[in-house]
Amino acid sequence: MGLTRMVVKKYMKRHSMTNTGLVLSSFFCCLGIYLFVAAPPELPDVKAAVIQDRAIDVSNMFNAMNAINDAARRIYTSRIVGGGKEAGLEFGEDWAEPSVDKGPLPALFTRLVAGRMESKPPPLGLYLGSDKPINQSNLFSGQQALGFDRLKETQLSVFLKSDDAGYVAMYPDIASAKPCVSCHNEHADSPKTDWEMNDVMGATTWTYPRDLLSSAEYLEITDAFYTSVQEAYQTYLDKVEKFQSSVVISNDWPEKNKRALPDAATFMAAVQVESASTVLNDLVLNPSAKFENVDLPGFQ
Ligand code: HEC
Repeated sequence: MGLTRMVVKKYMKRHSMTNTGLVLSSFFCCLGIYLFVAAPPELPDVKAAVIQDRAIDVSNMFNAMNAINDAARRIYTSRIVGGGKEAGLEFGEDWAEPSVDKGPLPALFTRLVAGRMESKPPPLGLYLGSDKPINQSNLFSGQQALGFDRLKETQLSVFLKSDDAGYVAMYPDIASAKPCVSCHNEHADSPKTDWEMNDVMGATTWTYPRDLLSSAEYLEITDAFYTSVQEAYQTYLDKVEKFQSSVVISNDWPEKNKRALPDAATFMAAVQVESASTVLNDLVLNPSAKFENVDLPGFQ
């Protein structure tokens, strides 16, 4: 891991923010554990990849960022919103209003993450779109609408080249729990009121202008995305600090009769454990996905 550590050091020098260092070092700690526990034979390949600064396909980067986003959304939805409700915490669309003591709904948490990523140098775009959205700004149009039609048929991710957004990856967002269906069906702004379990409700959509990245760029994007998740979660904690009745912020998770929330480091450690193996595999092992040109016959 000597070389990797050097890369990290160079990184930490360039981004002198301490939380960047924290995010990266705990990420590599997770990678270290993963390598040691799950995949010792792969170690030489990792070294080779670092030494050669091998080019990485953009689809691998999309897969890895999607795994981080999925882990963050899953943990936020089940442990923060699910556990938080048991503890008496509230979540809603109006969470950002100054007089309201609530946290963001999962879709709005994803939007916060996307907003933080937008403020950083790597040109990685993220949004949660649909063809029947509650919020009209989440409506797919043009080539992404065609891509979403394809995705609904196959329920598989779609990789396409589009004229306006460059390389695009769309991952199905499935109605995996009853509240997805009931909240959307009952929402006053929902154009569709007969969602059912396991429907494809939308797609997590990623955009990037180029097809190849150096491993240094891959690390920079990984770092920036983990940091964006952390900042989004911190935005929620900052709001919680202003609540009328207090919530204990430490290394505890909320549950029945426990008005507690994990601090940003505890939340991020959970996200990193769930996503580290995919981030590593997409750096060195996974074959890249094939991008389709939406103008080709057959893509409709
Ligand atoms: C308590 C209500 C609620 C629950 C539960 C909920 N959503 Fe949503 N969802 C919303 C709202 C409100 C928006 C619009 C957010 C915005 O303004 O961007 C939204 C946005 C979305 C979008 C983007 C398109 C759109 O409708 O604007 C998708 C896709 C989506 N949700 C899927 C899901 C899935 C899948 C689940 C379950 C895992 C889920 N939602 C659970 C309320 C909910």
